[in-house]
Amino acid sequence: MFSRVVNRPPPEMRKGLELMDARNGHVSRYSKGMIVIHWVTAVLIVAAWFTAEGGRHVVANPPLLHFSLGLAVLALTVPRLILRVVGQTPPPPDERRAWMALAAKIGHAVLYAFLIGLPLSGWYAASRLGVPVSFFGISLPTIAAPVQGAPGMIADIHENAGTVILYLAGLHALIAGWHHIVLRDGTLRRMSPL
Ligand code: HEM
Ligand code: HEM
Repeated sequence: MFSRVVNRPPPEMRKGLELMDARNGHVSRYSKGMIVIHWVTAVLIVAAWFTAEGGRHVVANPPLLHFSLGLAVLALTVPRLILRVVGQTPPPPDERRAWMALAAKIGHAVLYAFLIGLPLSGWYAASRLGVPVSFFGISLPTIAAPVQGAPGMIADIHENAGTVILYLAGLHALIAGWHHIVLRDGTLRRMSPL
């Protein structure tokens, strides 16, 4: 713990070190685009959860706002992944802890899998239920043939995954807070819109 305190640069030096980082070819924060998409997506996920409906009610009265909010997550994840691949990402806060960088990579990959799989499975569920899908008024095609009875396993997975992503995001936020407050490695600053 003592060594961590000694290694930590004083606040007046930190700005300069961030610049040095940039000169060395490393960025110290995510790009503006990545930061905006990160926080808009977080709000959309929570809003999609609150507007979700299950069971027969969906057929009688389709939750169009839920569909639109969820599809907006998918629409933002595509440019987000492109930005992720073509742009620069800040290196892990502590290069000495390789296991931590690997755990973060795996955790973020799981979140990305949900950001793509969740809207697609919802679109599939709506198609199976025979419910028309639209994105803020724009009609979209179905991606599966409608069925008479239960919409099937992927629809069940969607209903559960829609809640699991909130737990994962909560855990992710707790870990980010632990990095920032306990390890004091400035993790929250990397994704801060300010
Ligand atoms: C990405 C964000 C999304 C989240 C967090 C989410 C979350 C949820 C949750 C928690 C449920 C269960 C509600 C309940 O049982 O009361 C649900 C159901 C449902 N969602 Fe989503 N959803 C998302 C995206 C979508 C999209 C994009 C669509 C369609 C285009 C969609 C279509 C549906 C349908 C049809 C159901 C009912 C499934 C059934 O009753 O079998 N969802 N969603
Ligand atoms: C539904 C909500 C959320 C989702 C889906 C989500 C998803 C993600 C993903 C996929 C990344 C990886 C970015 C990349 O390297 O490409 C990330 C990074 C990050 N998120 Fe979230 N996030 C959510 C909510 C939050 C919240 C509430 C916080 C705040 C406590 C937070 C703080 C961060 C931070 C600080 C990073 C950067 C981590 C690093 O530099 O390694 N996120 N988030």
